Amino acid sequence: MDDPLTFAALMVRENAVAPFSKFKVGAAVEDCEGHIHTGCNVENATYGLTVCAERVAIFKALSEGVRQFRRLAVAADTATLTPPCGACRQILWEFCGDIEIVLVNLEGRTESHRLKDLFPRPFDVSYL
Ligand code: THU
Repeated sequence: MDDPLTFAALMVRENAVAPFSKFKVGAAVEDCEGHIHTGCNVENATYGLTVCAERVAIFKALSEGVRQFRRLAVAADTATLTPPCGACRQILWEFCGDIEIVLVNLEGRTESHRLKDLFPRPFDVSYL
């Protein structure tokens, strides 16, 4: 695992608070200065208040004042690599634009996608 971004996503996945689904996810976003911000999924007994790993990572970075991002990695324990959910794609588009999304699993298998391919024809501020 020689990419620090995928390594960070795999490491933070261990912190996932996922007592209901048992589905642990880690995310790591690299900003334009090369710093890495991480997040894991945090579930809630109401289920609907659960927050995905990707949004935790982005919101942590935004709250530190970071506004420009290069890449985001998502780590999960699945053979078919886990992509961001629809809600996270919307949030990622809004704050990161067409960044690179790197998916990784525990075996170290990776895939790279552009967000615009995962999230075609987005609704965004350009419509307002
Ligand atoms: N989850 C994420 O954190 N990111 C994804 O990309 C997919 C789903 C979380 C939400 C929930 O805690 C669990 O995985 C099962 O859906």
